[in-house]
Amino acid sequence: MNTPNLDEICIDVCAAARHAGAFIRAEQKKIRAAQVEVKSRNSLVTYVDKQSEQMLVNALTPLIPGAGFITEEETTSITGEHYNWVIDPLDGTTNFIHGIPCFAVSIGLLRDGLPVLGVVYEVNLDECFYAWEGSKAFLNQTEIHVSAAARLEDSLIATGFPYYDHAREKEYMQLFVELMHSTRGLRRLGSAATDLAYVACGRFEAFYEYSLQPWDVCAGAFIVQQAGGKVCDFKGGIDFIFGKSLVACNAATYEEFMNKLRLHF
Ligand code: IPD
Ligand code: CA
Ligand code: CA
Repeated sequence: MNTPNLDEICIDVCAAARHAGAFIRAEQKKIRAAQVEVKSRNSLVTYVDKQSEQMLVNALTPLIPGAGFITEEETTSITGEHYNWVIDPLDGTTNFIHGIPCFAVSIGLLRDGLPVLGVVYEVNLDECFYAWEGSKAFLNQTEIHVSAAARLEDSLIATGFPYYDHAREKEYMQLFVELMHSTRGLRRLGSAATDLAYVACGRFEAFYEYSLQPWDVCAGAFIVQQAGGKVCDFKGGIDFIFGKSLVACNAATYEEFMNKLRLHF
């Protein structure tokens, strides 16, 4: 197989994300409660998630012949030998259904299990965040960097609340209180891909959450790294895409943040 030209492919992936995003934006005005399906407790899906994913699979398939897919809505089961697209066609479905304007399309690319490209398109603000192997990170063609803040007391932190896996809730709440006391505050946007994109561009100093899925984090975590940030699992290791715990942080507060987290996890 020829080595794919990731900088050129990234342009096409951004276009595919924007196209799916335009569809999502248009459908938000039409969606009705009867069209919401419950996959499992608090895990919702609509025809918009499924159609967005189908649009993305169709657009990405020709970009890297032989590449497979890891997708939330399982519209395809093709597995690639070296390359696999990791897609969340609508990250922030609960926000979408409730009319809260924060949701995104998230597209990562793994080569032999490691991320080499990421695109997060936040639909409402028309913000496309992206990076590829060896590149800087960008937001709508402007280079972005993680925040330079060096102390947690100057930091705004994002997180997500567990809604089905309550096993680590006690430790989670202890860390939450600890961070309430030691930072500028915490936010829960409801879209992990957007949380990560906001760390990459310096709006948040850090984001942490557990029980996330690969399609929630693959693209955004890679963009944070390319923007100069650090990403790890709750143990400080590298298993943050499939390992169901993730910390993304600017470089300057990373140690201080991990010290707080280690007190509880
Ligand atoms: C969810 C969002 C949310 C996070 C959940 C995810 P979905 O994704 O990223 O912020 O807290 O864990 O499942 O279901 O809206 O694609
Ligand atoms: Ca998601
Ligand atoms: Ca989703």
